[in-house]
Amino acid sequence: ELGQYRHYMQKEIFEQPAALSATLEMLEGARSVQPGLFGANAEAIFADVNRVLIIACGTSYHAGLVARYWLEAIAGVPCVVEIASEYRYRESVANPHTLVVTISQSGETADTLAALQHAKNLGMAHSLAICNAPESSLVRETALRFITRAGPEIGVASTKAFTTQLAALYLLTLALATRLGRLDAVREANALQALRHLPAAVARVLELEPEIKAWAERFSDKQHALFLGRGRHYPIALEGALKLKEISYIHAEGYPAGELKHGPLALVDRNMPVVAVAPNDTLLEKLKSNLQEVRARGGELYVFADADSEISESEGVHILRLPEHYGSLSPLLHVVPLQLLSYHVALVRGTDVDKPRNLAKSVTVE
Ligand code: M6R
Repeated sequence: ELGQYRHYMQKEIFEQPAALSATLEMLEGARSVQPGLFGANAEAIFADVNRVLIIACGTSYHAGLVARYWLEAIAGVPCVVEIASEYRYRESVANPHTLVVTISQSGETADTLAALQHAKNLGMAHSLAICNAPESSLVRETALRFITRAGPEIGVASTKAFTTQLAALYLLTLALATRLGRLDAVREANALQALRHLPAAVARVLELEPEIKAWAERFSDKQHALFLGRGRHYPIALEGALKLKEISYIHAEGYPAGELKHGPLALVDRNMPVVAVAPNDTLLEKLKSNLQEVRARGGELYVFADADSEISESEGVHILRLPEHYGSLSPLLHVVPLQLLSYHVALVRGTDVDKPRNLAKSVTVE
């Protein structure tokens, strides 16, 4: 079943172009994103919502955090993202015009199911599940659904589920943006074109594997690592750190780069590798000055840039460039090298990549 691959995680990382093609198949020939993609009642429900509440756990939560940047910037819809286990037990203010979006690969995560129930009990009936398991409990509980077509994900570390969730969340953003008159036909056509080209763009990023493998050697004897990003790539830094700790057991933290000075900079020394997600966007200059602060403390930098990011290699600053600069969908590309990095670090350390200690694929108990 593994074919040419050593582990399910590696196989699933490399299946991402196909998983995205399958998930986005319905866009073939489409000129716009129809609400009907999310279910028969979607049009009526979208007409009654003016905010989004996203609920999820782990990697699925990180997908939600990326979506928040899209929903507010592109659709102009206020969005909050909650960790399911926190949301279900906190006293919060409910609004019936909220679209409650739950995100889950398995659709069986106990906290996510309970948090959805909690939201319903508070009077929020407009619910949407983004899920990879069409027959799951979660999908049965929501008014609307979008099924990602990543195929079975066996490795405990979630990879192709994450990128397909992001594709689904981007479609949701476009659907809401169009409804609210925030997207003219030209911008929508460009966005659809970018989505259709995603599988090919991800395939090109996967070609960086040999270089990433070489970097991984340098992480294998480290105890700690810091992942930095800004804007919609801050959740990608969080996801990179989660992947590394989950399968290689190296303590890793993801931080918004602007927070460095407010604490974590104290940790930085030459034994602490710092990974930076540095696409060519409007925050690159800000990020570069954060990276200088790291260098000044002797921290070794591993920077994932774009082909055209204006940033250059120097002593202690290693740079890998993604072949394409991908605008608002860039988080989908930038997570891929971080998945590969954690995979190769785990290989060097000899951990059980597909079944990391203490973890289960599906967390069906609280
Ligand atoms: O099945 P779900 O998407 O609801 O699972 C949520 C988390 O348990 C999951 O994403 C977990 O964080 C992964 N093992 C991370 O790789």
